[in-house]
Amino acid sequence: MYDILRCPVCGENLTAEGGRLFCTRGHSFDMAKEGYVNLLSGGHKSGEEIGDNRQMARSRKNFLDKGYYSPLADAAAGLLEQRQPKTVLDICCGEGYYTEYLSKRYRGGSFYGFDISKEMVRLAAKRRCGASLFVANISRIPIRDESVDFAFHFFAPFHSGEFYRIIKQGGMLVTAIPGKRHLFGLKQVLYDTPYENDEALPDVGNFKITRKIKVRDEITLTDSEDMLSLLQMTPYYYHTPTEGINKLCALSSLTTEIEFVLVCCEK
Ligand SMILES: C[S@@+](CC[C@H](N)C(=O)[O-])C[C@H]1O[C@@H](n2cnc3c(N)ncnc32)[C@H](O)[C@@H]1O
Ligand SMILES: [Zn+2]
Repeated sequence: MYDILRCPVCGENLTAEGGRLFCTRGHSFDMAKEGYVNLLSGGHKSGEEIGDNRQMARSRKNFLDKGYYSPLADAAAGLLEQRQPKTVLDICCGEGYYTEYLSKRYRGGSFYGFDISKEMVRLAAKRRCGASLFVANISRIPIRDESVDFAFHFFAPFHSGEFYRIIKQGGMLVTAIPGKRHLFGLKQVLYDTPYENDEALPDVGNFKITRKIKVRDEITLTDSEDMLSLLQMTPYYYHTPTEGINKLCALSSLTTEIEFVLVCCEK
């Protein structure tokens, strides 16, 4: 279950036993009661300290669990079915919506997921979907070299060096970025002059981009709690004038385009 992990302190293999993971050099990491393990090594701050708080985690979960972004999850599941990987990793898994969705849709592999935010990983572990979940930083991933067949990486910071190191030769990383028109309807409510997203691809380093898949749909939100959750899980939450938020709260329904780009990167 934890086969591909390595000790974040010394890099030795980790063994699971009696509710903890440990290495031969005596470094030991307790499993939390929800079933995840914190592998952030000394000196590295967890997500809560660098920004992702409980409210954001809950908003993300409330919104995604209603299935608004299921077209993206379906497209990703199709890629798994095509490639039939044995080891699947959700990088920056957040509160685990995609980890759970994909592990239920694709039964052929062992699933792993990690995020820097303890609260996100705690919520992901509570889903009890069979994935092995841990807290870690993308800049120092406690996973052995070339041990992952297929990795997902949705809407999160990119670290081409570490991602390339852990993916097997012939393996694939699929990253999702917001498309040009993603949430344009929401932006029209919030701003006088809304802009399209730039759809800039991350610097994928030594990976080769072999395919880009556009996923488009339209969603309608009729619950003001969903509208607020959506706002709270986007960067607009921090940049929106109060009038914009008031306008959103006064709506009885919000219809908006959603648009994603799945970028397939091969090693
Ligand atoms: C916008 S959320 C996306 C979460 C999930 N992939 C999803 O689509 O629902 C970005 C996530 O990246 C995580 N994150 C940010 N910096 C990170 C880092 N240095 N290492 C690991 N995770 C990080 C955040 O904690 C957050 O959960
Ligand atoms: Zn160790």
